[in-house]
Amino acid sequence: MKRIGVLTSGGDSPGMNPAIRAVVKKAIYHGLEVYGIYRGYEGLMEGDIKKLELKDVGSIIHRGGTILYSARSERFKTEEGQQKGVEVLKEHGIEGLVVIGGDGSYRGANQLHKKGIPTIGLPGTIDNDINGTEYTLGFSTAVNTVMEAVDKIRDTATSHERIFVIEVMGRDAGDIAAWSGLATGAESIFIPENSSEKPEMINRLTAGFQRGKKHSIVIVAEGVGSGEEFAKYIAENSNYEPRVTVLGYVQRGGSPVAYDRILGTTLGSRAVELLMEGISGKALGMEKSEISIHDFDYVFSPESKVTDPIVKLAKLSTELSI
Ligand code: F6P
Repeated sequence: MKRIGVLTSGGDSPGMNPAIRAVVKKAIYHGLEVYGIYRGYEGLMEGDIKKLELKDVGSIIHRGGTILYSARSERFKTEEGQQKGVEVLKEHGIEGLVVIGGDGSYRGANQLHKKGIPTIGLPGTIDNDINGTEYTLGFSTAVNTVMEAVDKIRDTATSHERIFVIEVMGRDAGDIAAWSGLATGAESIFIPENSSEKPEMINRLTAGFQRGKKHSIVIVAEGVGSGEEFAKYIAENSNYEPRVTVLGYVQRGGSPVAYDRILGTTLGSRAVELLMEGISGKALGMEKSEISIHDFDYVFSPESKVTDPIVKLAKLSTELSI
């Protein structure tokens, strides 16, 4: 193998840049050429591809987002789009590919693998919703971002003796909500994996204020409903007038925390090694502090989905909010 490519696809996440950097440095260290494919699969189909040198990945380890840009591609879900991708890779002499992204990106990567392009996937999404890894690139940073925001909101909540409902990202997964909720001592956490009862929340909020609490924080993962809906429910079923904050895209940006830099660096390096060993169709992750290597098909199978740890965290938070 002489030449490999790297692309980022789907929602950007802090940790993608450290992973790109590791792929480029590791490949050059082993005498390979590396090509950056810009704007994910869209850029691949359009041939938006440039050779990357060491200088291109200088001073990016601490930067959020992705220097390769990202996109969500409907066209690449089609046979015609994937064939085009294979053609372009062959035209550029790219013999192996590292794809950094979430579930949709992995599905595209799996198709390229099935069409004969050696491909390795790295889990890049803040949602932490990829099977076969305990953590995804960007998750830790996003949790810290939410935690800092909630700490600030708590100052206002306390000053005004208010309830704040905070909506966080997580279309299908409650990981950000559960982790940030536990880290900030939230009174209630609502996640898609566990249907917490709204009436119980009202009882807890009321009991808290009755025993002298000066604020209450309710964290809602967007996959369960909107912050506005929850605030409306509280207002209609109590004497409180909650305020709502939707944290939104602030959660996707920012300098990656140490864990995301290390995860990106170790997985990016391993991806290059695997391509050099002739391995393809694998998704890398971290399980029990070891790099895990699974077939894409395993990652897609519902049986590999692990929700217990998140449900446990959310329950613990409820227990502690007495
Ligand atoms: O990156 C994951 C995620 O942030 C989800 O939690 C969210 O629903 C989605 O991406 C929205 O992203 P976009 O607007 O880029 O499609």
